[in-house]
Amino acid sequence: MDGNIYILGIESSCDETAASICKDGEILSNVIASQSIHAEYGGVVPELASRAHMQNIVPVVDKAIKEAGIELSSLNGIAFTQSPGLIGALLVGAGFAKSLAMSLKIPLLAVHHMQAHVLSNLIEDPIPSFPFLCLTISGGHTQIVLCKSPLSMEILGETIDDAAGEAFDKTAKMLGLPYPGGPLVDEYAQHGDPSRFHYPEPQIDDLNFSFSGVKTSVLYFLQKQKKEDPDFVGKNMHDICASIQYTIINILLNKLKKASVKTGVKNICIAGGVAANKGLRNALQDHAKKYHWNIHIPSLQYCTDNAAMISITGYYKLIEGIESPLNISASARATWH
Ligand code: KG4
Ligand code: ZN
Repeated sequence: MDGNIYILGIESSCDETAASICKDGEILSNVIASQSIHAEYGGVVPELASRAHMQNIVPVVDKAIKEAGIELSSLNGIAFTQSPGLIGALLVGAGFAKSLAMSLKIPLLAVHHMQAHVLSNLIEDPIPSFPFLCLTISGGHTQIVLCKSPLSMEILGETIDDAAGEAFDKTAKMLGLPYPGGPLVDEYAQHGDPSRFHYPEPQIDDLNFSFSGVKTSVLYFLQKQKKEDPDFVGKNMHDICASIQYTIINILLNKLKKASVKTGVKNICIAGGVAANKGLRNALQDHAKKYHWNIHIPSLQYCTDNAAMISITGYYKLIEGIESPLNISASARATWH
């Protein structure tokens, strides 16, 4: 292929409608329309998410093209999140991407959302050297991935129950915090004492994770404390959040340490919405010094769901010649390919 390669990336797997343009792997625009409507329901409502994607997708793509300063006719490929996610939400992005690829007669590039989260580490310089380990932590997934090259990845461990983001959001809900509670726990935790309360860490074999035990122990702890003092949460919010966050971070980083020892890989990355957590980012810096890790921490806009990670994954797929047929369907759950 001669000249520059321009890719449009589209993300619509959950509650963000996003579009991005990358030029030869460099991000030119990264537009996101977040859906605030779900907050009043305490979680993402699939039907409402699909409708909002329908309303947002044309203006969001339009804005991404304009901000990149290019014309639609300059595009060399259309990448979209094909899996996993809410099926109705995915179908909006998939339908749009297919139609545009068909009308422009350019390649369609199906992207796996979790693979894209890992590759968000290739957006900003200095990019990590291969192979690297990536702790991918989001609202639906928790994985340790060995990334050998942009498109060669192996999942070394994952959660057997809740995801790390769910552990944050569900415990936040018990504290009466609105959805999604993760960022709020992070805020409160900054002014709290992480050693004040203790929640047990699960003993799970290998590199897999479990968070349901933490959730249950926080629930019983709060029930007991509230019997003695109904205003226990109000009086101790900062310390409770700091202690829960400390426990979750320990579970995550202990497994990451184990993965580094097992593989001998010291290039370490993080990705996904929970990678925005300030406590985790600081703890990772400390681990890097202690264990001589070369770490890469994506900036916040590339941790939470975004389309820049979709466009860059599409770019690597296109240069490897991995295109998708126009009849490919979106899938709520699919392994990576
Ligand atoms: O990757 P993401 O944006 O969407 C999914 O693919 O799931 O991750 C969303 C998750 C939510 O559970 C949210 O509470 C969590 O990331 N999250 C955080 C923080 N920011 C987002 N959790 C803890 N601390 C944060 N600062
Ligand atoms: Zn995500």
